[in-house]
Amino acid sequence: MADQHAQGGDAVVEIDPQVFRKVLGHFPTGVTVVATHDGDRPVGLAVGSFFSVSLDPPLVGFCVSDQSSTWPVIEAHGAFGVSVLAADQHEVSNVFASRSDDKFAGVSWDPAPITGSPLIHQAVAHLDCELYDQFPGGDHVVVLGRVRALELHRDEVSALVFARGGYGRHESLD
Ligand SMILES: Cc1cc2nc3c(=O)[nH]c(=O)nc-3n(C[C@H](O)[C@H](O)[C@H](O)COP(=O)(O)O)c2cc1C
Repeated sequence: MADQHAQGGDAVVEIDPQVFRKVLGHFPTGVTVVATHDGDRPVGLAVGSFFSVSLDPPLVGFCVSDQSSTWPVIEAHGAFGVSVLAADQHEVSNVFASRSDDKFAGVSWDPAPITGSPLIHQAVAHLDCELYDQFPGGDHVVVLGRVRALELHRDEVSALVFARGGYGRHESLD
């Protein structure tokens, strides 16, 4: 268990980073690629923290590391595209989880209809978003996007899932 220290009456709990990662790693997430354009070329990263926020206005969000090289480009462009990856796209996830200079080299994509942000072929679904707001979240930034367009492409395939440090697929119990 984590160490606990009492300081001035307030209980301060020190969290071991390895325990934090292990515990939170048991919470499964889907996997998306969040991508944008720097004017010359597409850039993006794998994101498991994607979440839906609001219907009116239509908002989604994700948390991005303050070390991400993609985030400043999203901030400058003011828009991003979200590709919800299918279970057969785990290699795409690995590419976008890397720090490679040209992650789009072997990946087919199209510009999103409103913002032109890159959307990856064969994804389960796409969302085209304008940057709506951002909040500091420790070593991450909590980013909200206003959805300008969205489309479901592959209703029949399982979504890619990430849990306990590895990939899986979503399967219904019924
Ligand atoms: C399944 C999975 C989910 C991830 N989720 C996030 C996330 O939600 N936020 C984040 O900042 N990084 C996340 N990452 C890590 C980034 O994809 C990785 O750090 C990437 O190299 C960042 O690229 P960039 O620096 O080019 O933006 C995830 C990686 C994987 C494999």
